Amino acid sequence: MTETLEFQSEARQLLQLMIHSIYSNKDVFLRELVSNASDALDKLRLETYQDKDLQADTADLHIELDLDPTARTLTVRDNGIGMSRDEVVALIGTIAKSGTAELLGKLRETKDAAASADLIGQFGVGFYSTFMVADKVTLVTRRAGTDEGVRWESTGEGTYTIEPAPDAPQGTSVTLHLKPEDQEDNLHDYAAPATVRSIVKRYSDFITWPIRMAPESGEGEPETVNSMKALWARSASDVSEEEITEFYRHVSHDWNAPLETIRLQAEGTFEYQALLFIPSRAPFDLFVREAKRGIQLYVKRVFIMEDCEELVPEYLRFVKGVVDAQDLSLNVSREILQRDRQIQLIRKRLVRKVLSTIKALPEEKYQTFWSEFSRVMKEGLVADQDNRDAILEICSFPSTHSADEQTRLSAYVERMKEGQEHIYYLTGESRTAIENSPHMEAFRDKGYEVLVLTDPIDEMWVEGGGFDGRQFQSIAKGQIDLDPTPADEERTSEFADLLGWMTTALGDTVKEVRLSTRLTTSPACIVGDDHDLTPQLEKMYRAMGQELPPVKRILELNPGHPLVTGLRTAHAERGGQDERLAETAQLVHDLALLAEGGDLPDPAKFAKILATRLEQVI
Ligand SMILES: Nc1ncnc2c1ncn2[C@@H]1O[C@H](COP(=O)(O)OP(=O)(O)OP(=O)(O)O)[C@@H](O)[C@H]1O
Ligand SMILES: [Mg+2]
Repeated sequence: MTETLEFQSEARQLLQLMIHSIYSNKDVFLRELVSNASDALDKLRLETYQDKDLQADTADLHIELDLDPTARTLTVRDNGIGMSRDEVVALIGTIAKSGTAELLGKLRETKDAAASADLIGQFGVGFYSTFMVADKVTLVTRRAGTDEGVRWESTGEGTYTIEPAPDAPQGTSVTLHLKPEDQEDNLHDYAAPATVRSIVKRYSDFITWPIRMAPESGEGEPETVNSMKALWARSASDVSEEEITEFYRHVSHDWNAPLETIRLQAEGTFEYQALLFIPSRAPFDLFVREAKRGIQLYVKRVFIMEDCEELVPEYLRFVKGVVDAQDLSLNVSREILQRDRQIQLIRKRLVRKVLSTIKALPEEKYQTFWSEFSRVMKEGLVADQDNRDAILEICSFPSTHSADEQTRLSAYVERMKEGQEHIYYLTGESRTAIENSPHMEAFRDKGYEVLVLTDPIDEMWVEGGGFDGRQFQSIAKGQIDLDPTPADEERTSEFADLLGWMTTALGDTVKEVRLSTRLTTSPACIVGDDHDLTPQLEKMYRAMGQELPPVKRILELNPGHPLVTGLRTAHAERGGQDERLAETAQLVHDLALLAEGGDLPDPAKFAKILATRLEQVI
């Protein structure tokens, strides 16, 4: 009985992209099939460790490629785990990857073919890539331990058929009915043994299972065409850059080359090897919560699990690669891993090594890294207190030093002025808002550099921290005195009456009114106490539904500004009962709030008072 089923709509759209093939390197379909076959063999071996009753044949696990130049077919066969009927429908008929909808949305927006190919490459289309080179694909499979085989077939055009295949052997075979060769379109002759052999060597040499093909002469037993050497176990000088790149593609499902390769070898009582990669592009699902993360774990060359989260902290989730440990048990579970001391030690060392590698990247690579991964790395500043200093060393931030280049903190420290104790920063919603904020005035005047922090996450790590023995200090918080002079005290007493009165008059909105040393041209600004929430953070918490008491900040006045000296004179002459004066005080406060890009508590009232005042001066 043959059933005809429809592909899920996302799958249909991806298949259309494959059939009309936006990707120029068509050869990669073979890598995808071999990679799936290899995964299927890994899974079977693992399952037989975990389930002693599984009735599976594991005597000669391998992958086999069969070519028929006359019929123009290519078959990739494995005797691995196989799939049940329902698995075929679920795994081949749909795309379960999170972020698919977003990807398709982006693809629709992108008109440029190269950019689309790049997006698809990042996403990895796996099995569907076969439709770049085949106009029909037949898959026959039987799940190990069961005796019901399934035959699946499709032209990739919206539907597929599925029917029982009673005599299917254990595992999966995928047969491609090849499109005609078209060299102009990079569609090579995939029924030609020499072509296929060289593609396997190029893309899949490191696969740890034998990949067999008929011998070149065409006569006799099939022979193994890959070297099967685990790359991480070979010495670096023995492995070519190209092999490494292909291996990276295998473990990362990214079609680009990696930005950097990291090797680690530990010998002695606890032996392990690691081969890790920093991608050159952030994966499309870096911020998708349920996306897979982590690296592959092997034990004594045997694949144990994909996405081993225990080996890297969440903020390093973009790191890909393999860890091969010698002394773990083959049937180690996630629960055991979480508590395993050796795993924790490996993790510690991997983190340090990744961070030091990033630190040592040549400038151009570092720039690429930072533009792709700055946001996740900042998560580390919050989450990984032990390595905070090391992470800070590889961070760059925008600053007032340069309009378009970010600065590392070490460079900031080198530029610090004589007598400058702190690393100054201001958080805000945009660079313009920060640069134009009144808090910046005295710093600009004195040539002090200020970090311009506009990422919402900046609020979370910068508070209370330091770098290289210097505290981070918000220029909108606390008392800041860039150069105290003896005249200050005298001034404070001159203004004491006004300040006292204003503090009472504005008591509902601010906790204090005082004189400022931050200002040169603005009449006033609003600052927080050292441990107060910044307005941005306050907003964030409220947006998350947290109940907060209103945060009262401090109004600072510029004693050199005519509006402020005028207020002082008016207050001295008219006394504190004058209602008009109270309104002016409120206006001064509201203007300061507007100048830093803040939201007025009562905009209508502000507008009304201001309109009345303007009327009087026209
Ligand atoms: N030879 C096979 N044996 C068993 N299952 C397979 C085989 N080929 C594919 N599958 C199943 O179909 C799923 C989809 O394969 P596909 O290659 O499209 O995606 P993937 O391998 O999960 O991810 P990637 O995009 O990295 O290749 C696989 O996850 C696997 O469960
Ligand atoms: Mg795959």
